[in-house]
Amino acid sequence: MYRTHNCGELRLSHLGQTVTLSGWVQRTRDFGAMSFIDLRDRYGITQLSFNAETNPELLSKARELGREFVVQVSGQVVERSSKNTQIPTGEIEIAVAEVTVLNAAKTPPFTIEDQTDGGDELRMKYRYLDIRRKPVRDNLLLRNRVSLAVRNYLSEQGFAEVETPFLIKSTPEGARDFVVPSRMNPGEFYALPQSPQTFKQLLMVGGMDKYYQIVKCFRDEDLRADRQPEFTQIDCEMAFVEQEDILQTFEGLLKHLLKSIRNVEVANFPRMTYDHAMRTYGNDKPDIRFGMSFVELNAIVQNKGFVVFDAAELVVGIRVAGAANYTRKQLDALTDFVKRPQVGASGLVWVKYNEDGTIKSSVDKFYSDEDRAAIAAAFGAAPNDLMLILAGSANKTRKALSELRMHLGNALGLRKPDEFAPLWVVDFPLLEWDEDASRWFAMHHPFTAPKPEDLHLMADNLGAVRANAYDLVLNGSEIGGGSIRIHNRELQRQLFEILGFTEEEAQAQFGFLMNAFEYGAPPHGGIAFGFDRLVAILGGHETIRDYIAFPKNNAGRDVMIDAPANIDSAQLDELQLRVVPVQQKQ
Ligand code: AMO
Repeated sequence: MYRTHNCGELRLSHLGQTVTLSGWVQRTRDFGAMSFIDLRDRYGITQLSFNAETNPELLSKARELGREFVVQVSGQVVERSSKNTQIPTGEIEIAVAEVTVLNAAKTPPFTIEDQTDGGDELRMKYRYLDIRRKPVRDNLLLRNRVSLAVRNYLSEQGFAEVETPFLIKSTPEGARDFVVPSRMNPGEFYALPQSPQTFKQLLMVGGMDKYYQIVKCFRDEDLRADRQPEFTQIDCEMAFVEQEDILQTFEGLLKHLLKSIRNVEVANFPRMTYDHAMRTYGNDKPDIRFGMSFVELNAIVQNKGFVVFDAAELVVGIRVAGAANYTRKQLDALTDFVKRPQVGASGLVWVKYNEDGTIKSSVDKFYSDEDRAAIAAAFGAAPNDLMLILAGSANKTRKALSELRMHLGNALGLRKPDEFAPLWVVDFPLLEWDEDASRWFAMHHPFTAPKPEDLHLMADNLGAVRANAYDLVLNGSEIGGGSIRIHNRELQRQLFEILGFTEEEAQAQFGFLMNAFEYGAPPHGGIAFGFDRLVAILGGHETIRDYIAFPKNNAGRDVMIDAPANIDSAQLDELQLRVVPVQQKQ
């Protein structure tokens, strides 16, 4: 038997017991006559003591144990003379009587403790060592708890988990596919699913009624802190439902998770239209933990001779409470921030409502005292407030102001990780016009139903048609999105036509789905949550990589196994593939 207890469970109540523990040597402290070792496993750390007087031989053996050696020890649980209140086992130690080295270890490339000296790349290369560190391990255990809570809630609600295939067919919509060559069908490729979307709809046609799956999805897109090429969704679909049924069911899911994981109770989630979110926060996933909502100023500031404002489609600003004392340097830094190419504003106008009641701005020569008072009034500003204003084309300016708002939210500590502010964003446009491709794209996906009350706009005002779609937003992150689906073949055909598919292309790509709609498809709808994002936010962070056991780096590489990699020529031959160097192709 390797152990009678784990390294996290012994307490004063075990005093006097002879126990056996197995684990890793985290740290050794040698005081001559006494030596101490911290023994670690998944459950915690227990102190081992070795005494020169009682067992000098054992003490010299203990001195040979290096960091990360795997050892088994037996001994008596005794009370510690100097207690450690930081850890649950801190009142006891094991007076070791026997040590067995189960496996030696090379000196690890970085310190395996809560605070480590290892950089990101190094820790990724030795991810199995990083996982021994408590913060990483705790993230994975949190993920496990969330997944169990999701399964409990959904199965309680009557959802059944059904698996769908990973080797499917590439489709031209959405992100890029990862493709897999087929040996048995030379020259043909499977694609890995970007989501199980069409399959879950077919499960509804199949009468499964309430489906869910915690499932890997694959998207070959550029990576960010909240994006991985393979990530996990909680994918759900229900038959005979309207939008309201879905919102209720999945609001319930998030409430259940917040309560069971974080012991937080939240009121009913606010609902915001897409249009309102864009106008008020410049963003379809607003972080509503803090204010700084947008104030449009065209009517107040235009036609006063300031050409930048006069020429702008939109003049819009935010109020930063209590920031009127910002220095020139701080304001310059904010100006530099908005002028960065990623943000894209041409400049920043500031207005300060000083403590003495005077109102000053960076464009005083164009605006009188009354004008400035009118601006402050539009913001509902009070003494000590700072107002920051951008101008330009509406969409670009809203986007830039949203970046500034989030930047300030972070800088001022307003995005508190243990505060949770979920909301639904609803009434998305069905379609988006893409100038470059000069065609319509589905804003969510091509299976999303238009709002019935907007169907009459399909003939001549496509841009105004709203979708029966919704996103669940938590703390500024889109954690889920879904829609009521089209279940009528003719409407689905019409949508593909709008999206530029010929009849043949639509049939070749999605014939299986449209055919299914002819065999009694029930009305249905669903949603998918980004599981990694959800877990990260519940853990108080936004970087999903920290919550994935073996993530990819920003270049999409797994640096531990060194993937992707070349395959040998025999494998290429078997797949009837040839690697053509780029130069030769031109
Ligand atoms: P959507 O594309 O909005 O919808 O994806 C659903 C949720 O998945 C998460 N997500 C990601 N997480 C990590 N890395 C990524 N690369 C990534 N891409 C998306 C987001 C997002 O809200 N089939 C539809 C759902 C439906 O209509 O039911 C779908 O996949 O949190």
